[in-house]
Formats: sequence, structure tokens, C-alpha cells
Amino acid sequence: MKKHLIKLACHSTPIFLNRNSRLPVLFVMLLITYSCKKKETPTPIVVTPTDTTTLRSVAPFPVGAAMNPDLIKDNTFYYKIASTQYSSLTPENVMKFAATEPALNQFSFSDGDYLVSFAAQNHMRVHAHNLIWYTSLPDWVVNFQGDSLAWESMFKTHIDSVAGHYKGKVASWDVVNEAIRDDNGTLRNQDVSAGDGSIWRRHLGPDYIARAFLYAHAADPNALLFYNDYGQEYDVVKLDSIIALVTGLKARGIPISGIGMEMHINVNDNNTGITTALQKLAATGLLIHISELDISLNPSNNQSMVLTDALEQAQSAEYQFVAETYRAAVPAAQRYGITTWEFSDAASWIPIYYNRPDWPLPFDASYNKKAAFYGLLTGLQK
Ligand code: XIL
Repeated sequence: MKKHLIKLACHSTPIFLNRNSRLPVLFVMLLITYSCKKKETPTPIVVTPTDTTTLRSVAPFPVGAAMNPDLIKDNTFYYKIASTQYSSLTPENVMKFAATEPALNQFSFSDGDYLVSFAAQNHMRVHAHNLIWYTSLPDWVVNFQGDSLAWESMFKTHIDSVAGHYKGKVASWDVVNEAIRDDNGTLRNQDVSAGDGSIWRRHLGPDYIARAFLYAHAADPNALLFYNDYGQEYDVVKLDSIIALVTGLKARGIPISGIGMEMHINVNDNNTGITTALQKLAATGLLIHISELDISLNPSNNQSMVLTDALEQAQSAEYQFVAETYRAAVPAAQRYGITTWEFSDAASWIPIYYNRPDWPLPFDASYNKKAAFYGLLTGLQK
């Protein structure tokens, strides 16, 4: 076995570590190095400081990514980046309603528990996502029959059970996700069948948001609680509605600590909107989290688009701009951090959701650092 590995290594075949057998494999690698040295002159490897510098080591606040437990388990490249580059982890899907309560009063926490222990092993904060959202609901919720008391009980039990299960294990929650409409800044409410109405608003009334925060706080009194939404950088009506909502909650004594600004943006977006939104959000005095950053290169859905160097450079500049602007606009005490939505183009939701080629993240589909990685790295430390 050992001989076989040594032969492979001396022929420059890459060997990928299995995370469960790291020590023995490292030991074998040492033997390989020793044995190879005797046979040939090693080619010098030039490592510049930026090649070994991690995002988490330079960022003066938590830097995170949405993550997926199956990829951590199955893909060694993914595992390596996830465990070394980031100081904060957001579960991409496994703490959502459909994942955590697939049937009424039947809870499923194994995937979320896996991410919590992965984060602990790698000294990362967990920002949990999310308790109440109008979508990613199991069919049984969509079809739920009951009066307002039954709806309230089902809603409260979900929050109690999920936030209660993760009590003391996660730092924070996106309690309510995307409750505001795009067109006029009012609460999503009406046409649930059209896909963008909120079943919660419809059955529980507009104050369901305040109650979600109260229930979450009761279940996990130490968790920081966030309202999270998209479009704040391009829709000023929506931005102002979100600010009015959260400041109104705060004024009533509802336990809300912060605002998540998703920031699913693209290279053609107007940067002024980003600056203005961050400044206005910071003026609330609440924690501000850039919670789901990705930067699309193909917003016009061009099916035959190819990635060019110019696009890569523009994306890198935009990552740098976002990080620098966050630092400039948000006082240090209010910086909850910057989280990208996944980190590799191979795992991004954008190409699937929009059905187009796209490359929105700092690592490419083969898990190599893109120019965007270095743009983000520079922006975090500048
Ligand atoms: C997305 C995930 O990335 C996809 O894998 C899933 O199919 C749908 O949800 N806003 C949010 C996130 O708050 O939860 C969404 O995540 C992306 C948009």
C-alpha cells in the first residue's frame, strides 16, 4: 500500500486527503517527500503570500459562506475550503422549514446538527437560516387546514422546536425571511398560489413578524435575531419599508438585533445603490449582515455566454467594492460580517435557479481561487 502511494506521488499524481484519515495520510506524505527527494531534484514551488492568506485571517469581522453538509462530506476540495477560509457558516438549506419539519410535529435535525459540529470543529460561528419564509415550505404547511388558533399553534411550535433545538449552538437566526414585496414595499400577503404571497401573513395577520421574533427569543434568549431580505440595494421603496419595519419592531421592544442584506447582485448593478443602502441600514444602529452575497456575470440570461478575463476582473473589482464599502459605511460595532451564498461556482444556486451559465462566486467550479477571491480578500483588509 505504502509503496503504491509513493510511486504515484513521485509521478506527480495528486493525492486527496480523506478527512477521516488525515494523520495517517500526512505521515505517508512525509515518507513520500523523503523518498522522492532521494530520487530527483524537487521542482521549487513558489508560494506568494496571497496564495496562503485566508479570508478569515484578514477580515476584521466574521467572513462566512452558506454551506451544504453533503458537499462537506463528499467533496474534499469543498471540505478544505469550507474548513479553512471562513469564520462563519450559514446552512444553505438544511435549517429551512421543509428540511426541519417535513411532517407536522416531526422534526429532522441531523443535517443541521452536522453543520453545527463541523462549525465547532473549525472554530466557526453558525448564523442559522431561517425560521419563517414564504417559500421552501413542505406541502403539509401549504395545505394546512385550521382556524387562526391552529395556524398560530403550528407556527409557534415550529419556531419553539427549531430555535429550541439549536439553543446555545448557533449565534443567530434569520427569523423572518423576505416578508416584503418588491413592487410597493408592503407585506407579501395576497395570492399565495402565484408563488410570492405569504401564507403566514394571510393566516396570521401582519403582526406575525413581531410574534416570530418573540417566540424565537423565548426559545433561545441569547441568539441574535435578524430580519433578512433581498433587493435593498436596488429598490429604495423596499429598503425604506424594511427600515420602517425593523425600527418599528425595535421601538415596540420586540427583540431584533440586526438586518440581513442578501446582496444577490450582478456586475452591471449601480454601486451607488449599494453605498446608500449600507449607509441607511447602518443608521438604524442595528447589526448589519451582508448575508447572501453573490455577483452574477450573466444577468441577461445569455445561454451561450462564456467567461472572459474582462468579466472576471469586473467581478473581482465588484467583490472588492462591496467589502470596502461595507467597512466604510458600517461602524465596526455593527458589522455582523459578510457571507457569500456558497463559495464555489459549482455549488451556486444562480445557474440552476435562472437556468443559465453563470459564475457568481470567488472559487471556480473546480474549486480554484478566481480573481474574485483576491478582490474580496483585498476589500476585506483595505
Ligand atoms: C436558495 C438555495 O440556495 C437553493 O439551493 C434553494 O433551492 C432555494 O433557496 N434567498 C434566500 C436563500 O434567503 O434561502 C435562498 O437559497 C436564495 C435566496
